Parts: sequence; structure tokens; C-alpha cells
Amino acid sequence: MIVTGIQPTGTPHIGNYLGAIKPLIALQAEDEDTYAFVADYHAITADFDPKALRSNSIGVAALLVASGFDTSRGRVFFQSDIPEHLELAHILGCTAARVGQLNRMTTFREKMDAATEKESGETPSLGLYSYPVLQAADILAYQDDKGKPTRVPVGSDQSQHLNFAIDVAQSFNHRFGQTFIIPEPVISCTPRIMSLFDASKKMSKSDPDDMNRINLTDDADRIRKKFRKATSDSLYIPLTVEEIGDRAELRNLLTIYGAFAELTFEESLDTFAGKGFGPLKAALTDVVVEKLEPIQTRYRELIVDPLFGHSLRMGAMAAGILAAETTARVRETIGLSDSAPAALEERFNLVVPNYDK
Ligand code: TYM
Repeated sequence: MIVTGIQPTGTPHIGNYLGAIKPLIALQAEDEDTYAFVADYHAITADFDPKALRSNSIGVAALLVASGFDTSRGRVFFQSDIPEHLELAHILGCTAARVGQLNRMTTFREKMDAATEKESGETPSLGLYSYPVLQAADILAYQDDKGKPTRVPVGSDQSQHLNFAIDVAQSFNHRFGQTFIIPEPVISCTPRIMSLFDASKKMSKSDPDDMNRINLTDDADRIRKKFRKATSDSLYIPLTVEEIGDRAELRNLLTIYGAFAELTFEESLDTFAGKGFGPLKAALTDVVVEKLEPIQTRYRELIVDPLFGHSLRMGAMAAGILAAETTARVRETIGLSDSAPAALEERFNLVVPNYDK
């Protein structure tokens, strides 16, 4: 089984595509059981606009499918259609997650530090603090019935969250007996894609300046303009990887070129060695426009297709059955009320196994 999520905090960009969407689609070819969800519960942990949340959520789902996610082999759904993610998060938060660990999470600490620096700054939400627990629940809700670990394709920025999910699963099992199969992170081999202006920051959906990223929906003119304005220097592109040194912007553009042109980093460097940024930016624009064009055509069809909405509901139904089964088992394990299976029966018109036998 494969499970991953993308937050609808904006439009997915080429970092999300290279770090998560492309690897997810490649993995899906080897596994029938793939669940990709729009992490809308996560997107409300920071400031958000309800209308934008809704349209971004549909956009993320459509871009996943337009990028090649096969809905006949896997499921795409909205996280908030499956409230079991929240129930499981609460249970894990009480039984297996410790504040000592949450205090060390870099995403929360960065936001907390930023708020403390601004005198009038509001501190982050409680939801942002417990975000990793919800992410652990997102993953652990989906258990393979043959006992195989769930693989979770993500970009390298998510390593800390995935290690936390592993710790939570181990600590729950330790306390209550074998319940969760330990998940397996699949970290993308493409390095983190960085901002076009400041390559010390990652390319991000929530960056207020749109020029820092290439959105999957950007048209050719906008892509050209963004690459043209991307930070560069006046030096030549060197012959060897070592000589790139701390030229982080150059490293980032060569990484993006290589990933889209299906070349290794060294081959990407060889293509431009001895030239300036001009030819690199021109070739980068061409290859990104060429690769995004079919995705954008499909995306425009999907967002007006009623069958697409139907496939999301079917996805939620299939995912909901699995998540509800896991949650019912966990409730039973820890001694909560056992009427959940009856409610399950009503919700999905299912015959639910009796775990007492
Ligand atoms: P999110 O929405 O920030 O990013 C979605 C996916 O894209 C990857 N990614 C990147 N990869 C390379 N370069 C970048 N600049 C870049 N920015 C983002 C992320 O690693 C991620 O794989 N917490 C998650 C969403 C989530 C999730 C989950 C993921 C919620 N529950 C359960 C896996 C399993 C997040 O904020 O991703």
C-alpha cells in the first residue's frame, strides 16, 4: 500500500511535482493500492481563507490526476471526508505522542520563533503544534491486510514528520501490542527544490511572493518571466560539480533542469558547462513548458468534469472503509466504546468483522 498527502495551501508547484507527485505516480505503477489525499485538515492549521481552501483543494486533486495519477488503480480523496484521521490523531496524541518530541519539530519551532520575533505576533495554533500527530494518523489509518508496510513517498523536507510517525507506531505497539505495521518512508531522490530568488529557502506554496515558484498551472509566458528573473550571477557555469561550491541558485536551476529533462545532475551540468545563465534559463523554460503543457490541458478538462467529482467521492468511500476499520480496531484495543463498528455498518452499508471472535 502507498499513502501520501499534499496540503491545499496554494497551487502545487514544480517542487511538489518533483518531490512527491512524480515519484508517487512512478510507485503507483507497481502497487494497485494507492491512496493520495488532499490534506485539507492540515491546511487549516495556519491562517487560511475558506473560499481559497475549497478551490485549492479541488485544484490539488485535479493536478494529481492530470499529472498521471491513475484513479482506476488508486484513490484520490479529501482528507476531511474521512473524520477517522482526526479520531486516530486524538488517540495517538493521548497514547503514543509526547510533547517532548513535538517541541523538537522544526516546522513548529520556526513558526514559533517567527511569532516571538514580531512583538505583536500571534503564536501559532494548537493544530500546528499537533500537526505531526495528525500526519502520523493519516499514514497509520491505512494498514495493509497482508501485513506489508505502507510506503509513503514524500520530499526530503518531510523526513522528520515521517520519523515521528514511525516512533508513534512503535510506541503504540509497545504499549498495546502489535497494532500498526511500521510505515516505510520513500524519500524522493531529487533534492529539495529551492526558491527561485533565494535558494536558501525551499520553494513553497505559501510563500507570499509568487515569483519564487513555478506553479504547475503557470502558462509559458509566466514560466519564462519567472526563470528570467530568477537569481543568477555573472560567472560561467563550471565544468565540475565541486566547482559549483556555494552557488546555490545555480545548483537549484541545474537540479530542476536535470529532473525535467530526465538527466542526472552531472549530465545536466555537462549540458551547460562553460556557458552563462542565459542558455540554462532558456533551456529550462523550454523543458518545463513542454512537460507541464499536457498536465495543464488535462487539468482544465478535469476541473469541469462531473465524473471527476464522482471519482473523488468514490475515493473517499474506499479510503473511509479502510480508515474506519483501523480506527474501530484501535478503539477496541484501548477500551473505548465498541459501538463504532455498528455506526460503520450504517455509514458504509458494510458487514463489519466481529473482533471479539
Ligand atoms: P506539502 O503540501 O508541503 O508538500 C507536498 C509534497 O511535496 C513535497 N515538497 C517538496 N519537494 C521538493 N522540493 C520542495 N520545495 C517541496 N515542497 C514540498 C513534500 O515533501 C511533500 O511530499 N505534511 C505534508 C502533507 C501531509 C502528508 C501526510 C504527506 C499531510 N499528511 C501524510 C505524507 C503522508 C506537507 O505539508 O506537504
